[in-house]
Amino acid sequence: MSNDDTKDMVETVDVSPRDPDLPQAPGADVFRQLLHQAVRVADMANSQAMRMALDFAKVYEREQSVRKEFENQLKQMTLMEKQATRYAEDLAGMLRSERERRQELERALDQERIANEELRRTGLQGISHLLLAATIKDRTTGTHLQRVRRYVEAIAERLGLPEELVEEFGYSSVMHDVGKIHTPDHILQSEHHLSDDEFSVIKQHCIDGEKMLGTARFFETARGIAREHHERWDGKGYPDGKKGEEISLAARIVSIADVFDALTSKRPYKDAWSAEAGLRAIETGAGERFDPEIVAGFVALAREGVLERISSEVAASNADEHPGSSAK
Ligand SMILES: [Fe+2]
Ligand SMILES: [Fe+2]
Repeated sequence: MSNDDTKDMVETVDVSPRDPDLPQAPGADVFRQLLHQAVRVADMANSQAMRMALDFAKVYEREQSVRKEFENQLKQMTLMEKQATRYAEDLAGMLRSERERRQELERALDQERIANEELRRTGLQGISHLLLAATIKDRTTGTHLQRVRRYVEAIAERLGLPEELVEEFGYSSVMHDVGKIHTPDHILQSEHHLSDDEFSVIKQHCIDGEKMLGTARFFETARGIAREHHERWDGKGYPDGKKGEEISLAARIVSIADVFDALTSKRPYKDAWSAEAGLRAIETGAGERFDPEIVAGFVALAREGVLERISSEVAASNADEHPGSSAK
């Protein structure tokens, strides 16, 4: 069969249903079958291509959504990173201002410390001026005041008071008789028994002392001591007749230290008592003149040799400062 014949056959092929009346060209059936086969194959290829295209579309779609999801996550992460950076910056700022505030506070505290120290120095200077005036006037020796101060500190410490209070009671105690600056000399230096009138003038030194010490917080304890150091535990003292714990603790302590030192020192009107005799007088006064609890502490200090040690230390330090002189 030539090429032309084949061409003719193809051109004359009718795919429509065959007319049974028409004579059949030889080989037409075979050709038709082949053609149908080819069409089927083409259909199959087509549908496979379609399926592949659909599959591809699905895969593409999936990939797109995964990419979108990734992009979203990336966006969120970027946002979170920005927020974290802002937060860190805020935190750093807060820490900075906190540090600045602390430094400012420390500076203020330093200034307050300096101011307090200055106030304390001024107060202590005031005390030494007052004492100088009082010792000149009263002939009270400096050593009496030094011993009273040390006894008071030892008692306060023994009672378990905090260190600042021990120090405050100590420096405040030296002003107990500061009001005597107003007492006339002839009464102060009298070597005879005082009349009632003279005694009422003496009593005034407690009230004057409290007034002289003004209103500053620094002298609050000192004012209490000046006013109350002649009060008695049983309420029979002066100037107010206060009793028991109505009398400030500092004044109750000073009262014992002051009386003990007065008894054991030489005065114009009497000789010095021995330490044992002085201690016995204090013990006898427990519950009457003195707070019994403080007396117990004082007696314990005496037994331990603390009072004796204080007395000799004060004597030695004064001998160092004023060689050749002796306390009046
Ligand atoms: Fe006094
Ligand atoms: Fe005194």
